[in-house]
Amino acid sequence: MDARHLPVLLRESVEWLGAGRGGLFVDATLGLGGHAEAILEASPAARLLGLDRDPDARALAAARLSRFGDRVEIRAGNFRELERLAGDRAPFQGVLADLGVSSLQLDRAERGFSFRGDGPLDMRMGPEGPTARDLVNEATEGELVTILSEYGEEPEARRVARAIAAARRTAPIDTTRQLAEVVRGAKRPVHGEERIDPATRTFQALRIAVNEELDAVGELLDQAVRLLATDGRLVVISYHSLEDRIVKNRFRDAARGEVDPVTGRTLGETRILEVLTRKPLRPTEAEVGANPRARSARLRAARRL
Ligand SMILES: C[S@@+](CC[C@H](N)C(=O)[O-])C[C@H]1O[C@@H](n2cnc3c(N)ncnc32)[C@H](O)[C@@H]1O
Repeated sequence: MDARHLPVLLRESVEWLGAGRGGLFVDATLGLGGHAEAILEASPAARLLGLDRDPDARALAAARLSRFGDRVEIRAGNFRELERLAGDRAPFQGVLADLGVSSLQLDRAERGFSFRGDGPLDMRMGPEGPTARDLVNEATEGELVTILSEYGEEPEARRVARAIAAARRTAPIDTTRQLAEVVRGAKRPVHGEERIDPATRTFQALRIAVNEELDAVGELLDQAVRLLATDGRLVVISYHSLEDRIVKNRFRDAARGEVDPVTGRTLGETRILEVLTRKPLRPTEAEVGANPRARSARLRAARRL
């Protein structure tokens, strides 16, 4: 398997999930099926419900996992609808979410995620909903500023949004290369070792907006907690600070429970999670060396009380 397709924090995910104990697990982000395969290998008594909104990912994962027969079920859909997709199969021993885009999505220029190749400005993880092209050409300049600063933490959001608005007055921005060139032309040059492609933050912001990624993560976590068995595990790998903050805060709130407004004391029975990772787990240098995509990964794990 190509290094870019290596599953991130694989051994750690399987351990924190407690997959060796067997039972029914959800992989909410099946992707190429790397984590799913390791969960199923951890115990002959492990079973898996795998979700992905991307039909290409589901087809590849289905082929990879076919040897596990009826221990695996793959369903199409958005993990923000976990409760509906799970039907009557809960409670689960564990839920895993390895967030973000897959290497498959990033590497295929025709999916429109990457500023390195050239492809249609799409960026949808699944086949439904508006594309990045719709957003880039139809959002107001003010809306673009908000998207770029909130989801891309782009310090030059105004300059970039202004350049996009000017460029599209001449002709629609249809491709990833066109957009990357507009952004590169708008940004001031940066010097130093930490230089990344000037289009990086814009592409991240648009991808998050197109797929409503942050809302979806919050909804997933709320539902996952409700669907876990007692002692069931929730393991989430995120790749940027916006996502990790949502995970951290959701875990903290569920671990703290509700506070009695009169006495200020925690109502014990409302604590539904125990956070297992006080600090997020990071990949080792060896893992990052073998798989640069792992560099920004942070894993957080919690246990259902
Ligand atoms: C980082 S990849 C997962 C890689 C996988 N763990 C593996 O080992 O191959 C994330 C996957 O989650 C999917 N995904 C992201 N957001 C989703 C959502 N809201 N609903 C369903 N699938 C989603 C993407 O389509 C992508 O295939």
